[in-house]
Amino acid sequence: MVVANRLPVEIGADGTLSASPGGLASALSSIIRPGTQWVGWGGPQSGTAAAFDYGDVRLHPVSLSADEMSKYYDGFANAILWPLFHGRLRRVELNRVWWRSYRAVNERFARAVTAVAPLGATVWVHDYHLLLAPAMIRAKRPDLRVGLFLHIPFPNVQLFSMLPWRREVIEGMLGADLVGFQVADDVANFVAAAERLVDARAGDRLLLDGSHSVAVDAFPISVDFAQWDALGHRATDEARAIREELGDGTVFLGIDRLDYTKGISQRLQAFGELINEGRLDATSCTFAQVAVPSRSDVVAYQDERSEVEALIDAVNVRHRRDDGSLPIRYMATSLDEVAMTAWFRAADALVVTSLADGMNLVAKEFVAARSDLGGVLVLSEFAGAAQDLEGALIVNPYDIEAVKRAFVAVTEMPPAERTSRMTSMRAAVERHDVHHWARSFLERLDSVTPARGRGGLADKLAAIRRAGRLHDRKE
Ligand code: F6P
Repeated sequence: MVVANRLPVEIGADGTLSASPGGLASALSSIIRPGTQWVGWGGPQSGTAAAFDYGDVRLHPVSLSADEMSKYYDGFANAILWPLFHGRLRRVELNRVWWRSYRAVNERFARAVTAVAPLGATVWVHDYHLLLAPAMIRAKRPDLRVGLFLHIPFPNVQLFSMLPWRREVIEGMLGADLVGFQVADDVANFVAAAERLVDARAGDRLLLDGSHSVAVDAFPISVDFAQWDALGHRATDEARAIREELGDGTVFLGIDRLDYTKGISQRLQAFGELINEGRLDATSCTFAQVAVPSRSDVVAYQDERSEVEALIDAVNVRHRRDDGSLPIRYMATSLDEVAMTAWFRAADALVVTSLADGMNLVAKEFVAARSDLGGVLVLSEFAGAAQDLEGALIVNPYDIEAVKRAFVAVTEMPPAERTSRMTSMRAAVERHDVHHWARSFLERLDSVTPARGRGGLADKLAAIRRAGRLHDRKE
């Protein structure tokens, strides 16, 4: 079973289905096997939709009220955990009212899982929306094997300790048998927090209360290489059309959710300064920025949008060309995978300047789509992807001069160097694609569970019966 805040599809008011936004839903969609059950929210219009089959997968929508959307999703998840875990302290709003809603919604997800999970099933919980759910699931159904994967960074213990509910959150996560993170730093931060805040003992596993042991490790997520590679091959004509429209100058590309962690302002500032200084040609170079509207009921996201758009206006007003075209092409919309791939193939460089980022799957999608071996990746050292993609031009996004140097390097890079950098990055993504990620996590979960010493099937059934959940069923 998969458990995530969102189902793979959003359910419209009239029952129509559309792909859910975000890298998590698309990454998970490529790895689920027939027979999987997926528990998640169906989007703002989904109401109280009943379970239904979507292809080979059974979807169980969890309904959320408008009040819960505001307190659990906009509030606790996206105005407390998201900024805190990304080190954006200025954006953290420690509103105490939101905690109760976060706990109640986690409880609802846990109940939705335990009501339908087959005996002994593997349950894979995802991301920061559901950090309490593993312990809640385990308490109700000790027969289940529970994994948790955090898609975003885990902060260092000093930062994490700001959270008034820090113990409850750690205890919730430690309900899992395996907790997975993107990179080794996150693992170290989590282990330190568990040792300090709940007295867990660290050995090869974290040991809690002297009995429940939890494996913790890094599993860097990836993309479906074959799928993006195939999309790339098919996008040649659309990419050529984009290039014809934009002309011969260097084309830089950014594709992000409009989020203050993505460093969109930093990259646009670097681009603006370079054209002001005449180091990039204002009459021919373009920065194409796709900014997908996201979490727009959260004030910090509204502020970010205003800041980014003000910066774009300043550059474009100053450098508007005689034919009316603009150096920054701004698209405040989401693109489907085909349109994204056309932009990937048209660009000279993809620019990822996240200030903090669990992985950044767009960077890996770009690499997988560039079977032509063209295109340079400018990549923040603070994105998890920087640890997998050595062929990128790695930058500190806070260092605007360094970002500018990387942009100039893109314009000067000999084709042979582009090819060799892209070849090495493609090999890395192909070797460690999303299937490898899922396999590694699930195999580890499989291998660590028996060691927990829960005994055999009879013990599990007894435990469930004691907890009153099989009272009216025949064995
Ligand atoms: O891990 C980042 C994440 O929250 C994912 O859960 C999701 O795929 C993406 O960002 C989009 O966010 P949201 O679900 O808030 O639109």
